[in-house]
Amino acid sequence: MDALAIRSSIFQVLAGPQLAAMLYTSLELKLPELLTSPKSIEYLSVKTQTVLEKLERTLHALEAFGFFSYDSESGQWSNSQLSAALLDESLSSIAKYCIMPYKCEVLCNFSESLTQEKSAHELLFGCRYVEGLKRRQKPFEIYQKAMAGWTNFDGKDRIDVELNDFWRVLDVGGGDGTLLIDLAHAYPTISGTIFDIPESQALIDENIEKNGLQGRLDSAAGSFFETIPKGYDCILIKNTLIDWNDRDCRKILDNCRKVLDAGAQLRWIDCVMDRHDQHDLWGVILDMNMMASGNGRVRTKEQIEKLLYETGFRFDSISPSTKKRKGNTSSSLAPSAKHCIINATAI
Ligand SMILES: C[S@@+](CC[C@H](N)C(=O)[O-])C[C@H]1O[C@@H](n2cnc3c(N)ncnc32)[C@H](O)[C@@H]1O
Repeated sequence: MDALAIRSSIFQVLAGPQLAAMLYTSLELKLPELLTSPKSIEYLSVKTQTVLEKLERTLHALEAFGFFSYDSESGQWSNSQLSAALLDESLSSIAKYCIMPYKCEVLCNFSESLTQEKSAHELLFGCRYVEGLKRRQKPFEIYQKAMAGWTNFDGKDRIDVELNDFWRVLDVGGGDGTLLIDLAHAYPTISGTIFDIPESQALIDENIEKNGLQGRLDSAAGSFFETIPKGYDCILIKNTLIDWNDRDCRKILDNCRKVLDAGAQLRWIDCVMDRHDQHDLWGVILDMNMMASGNGRVRTKEQIEKLLYETGFRFDSISPSTKKRKGNTSSSLAPSAKHCIINATAI
């Protein structure tokens, strides 16, 4: 790389916080939706109730990074390929979560957190990440939508858990219920429960009802650090253990083990890090986010195996979490290339 290319790469990185703020604003203002057909800046400023000159400058700045496009002949704005991609609800919910001001605020405490055990979030707000989110309605809603966004990502390749051998399935930390609802459609003989904190209950119930699954699925509220409901032959736990340090994970897994009979199954679905893959950018960014928000981490297969062994489970196998659905010819666009299903048996 020559000196100019090096400087230009560094400047691209330095633009990160500004770009994140501008992009978040454009999502808040619903600019991708407004620009599905060309619009004048006057129209946009009235529609979004923003100062025309500031909005125009923001759009020009975003255009420099490939978001939105200005046609100087007509004097109108429209979507570029990048901003049009944000019309996908799953992608925009994930984008919004990654760059929401609450998360950026936490990241500002990153360097201080490296000198002590507490996470950047705990240092700033004095509580665990989920507690902090729960106290703030908007960030919590954004968080829940993003979690569903991950499950729904591109709507075609979904989490491919094999549930043919099970009758009763429990999704621990099941978020808004998207995963188990999707699986209930795919496996008509299973029934089950989505277990999460009380704040998620109304959303889960609404989603179960919307999908007409009241007879087969229900919700349960509580804390996986205390007790987990009994009576299931398979437990799913997706994108949840990644949020917690080893001590907390052991507590959650211990509680899962307590309510399963020997031979019952656990499906741990998470991003798995390959320490030797230097190009796993998403893996390392996610790991840093986990470290900043709550002392969680992206684990290697070996670290996962160890935790399972310590909590009374036998590691059986690991496989990619998604498989192409029939008729889907496009490849999954999710950056979570190493998102895996870990199959384990209670021993
Ligand atoms: C990262 S989200 C994953 C949600 C869902 N499994 C998914 O993949 O979209 C973690 C979930 O754990 C839930 N959670 C956090 N603390 C919990 C606790 N103490 N007991 C039960 N659920 C908890 C959160 O409310 C959230 O829904």
